[in-house]
Amino acid sequence: MDANPSQLDPAALPRHVAIIMDGNGRWAQERGLGRVRGHEEGANSVRAVVEEARRLGLTHLTLYAFSEENWGRPGAEVKALMRLLKRFLKKERDDLAAKDIRLNAIGQLARLPEDTRSELERTLAATAHCGGMVLTLALSYGGRQEILAATRELCARAARGQLDPAALDEATFSASLQSAGLPDPDLMIRTSGEQRISNFLLWQMAYAEFIFSPLLWPDFREAQFRAALAEYAGRQRRFGKTGQQLAATSKPKGGRARG
Ligand code: IPE
Ligand code: IPE
Ligand code: MG
Repeated sequence: MDANPSQLDPAALPRHVAIIMDGNGRWAQERGLGRVRGHEEGANSVRAVVEEARRLGLTHLTLYAFSEENWGRPGAEVKALMRLLKRFLKKERDDLAAKDIRLNAIGQLARLPEDTRSELERTLAATAHCGGMVLTLALSYGGRQEILAATRELCARAARGQLDPAALDEATFSASLQSAGLPDPDLMIRTSGEQRISNFLLWQMAYAEFIFSPLLWPDFREAQFRAALAEYAGRQRRFGKTGQQLAATSKPKGGRARG
């Protein structure tokens, strides 16, 4: 399936796409290369997909770049990933700002090495004024850890008498997560054929549409991204209702047919 931007109905585009960028290691191994070469090539897919998302007018893109569990990989690979991340943050800074893309980050950022973290801070600051699209990088991120941190904070507020537990609602809980202010993802794409969520945005993806691509992340570029968006546009999101109820409201498929 191929689709060019002109074939994508803007009304049926997702507002927020979240991607589990998986398969860099296998891409390299298939070519007899070291895993780090796969991560380098994966960075080119990041650039391609970010640019395409912006061109198409998506407002939110979230990329799972490093999980809390990825700290358990061999030290040399972790080091190489941090170095690559640092290089990416520096190299793309001006380009992100020029494209009006605001960088955002979620995860246990304090765990990042000092030099990577300061490069991140600089790019966050350099793009803080941008309003075209929010690009969120999930770094040292874990959905369960995020939910626990929010729960701890809410419990502390309740213990201080600043929050009535009976009044705690979904909006308040969402606002306590690191993703506060981001709409829930409409579409989650995972590459590499694995069909699991791997601790990504557990709370936020309650009603996301999932697309699992067999392609390895370095092979996932603009055309494959557009094809995923076209597939999403054909989905009917029911949010618990019946197909007939939704047909009666005549809202577009995919997109924002909430409620
Ligand atoms: C995804 O590719 C990148 C990160 C998790 C950092 P992998 O490195 O997981 O690649 P595979 O799954 O081993 O092929
Ligand atoms: C998920 O990929 C994390 C990222 C893409 C950053 P993994 O390769 O770490 O996931 P599992 O371990 O196969 O579930
Ligand atoms: Mg993997």
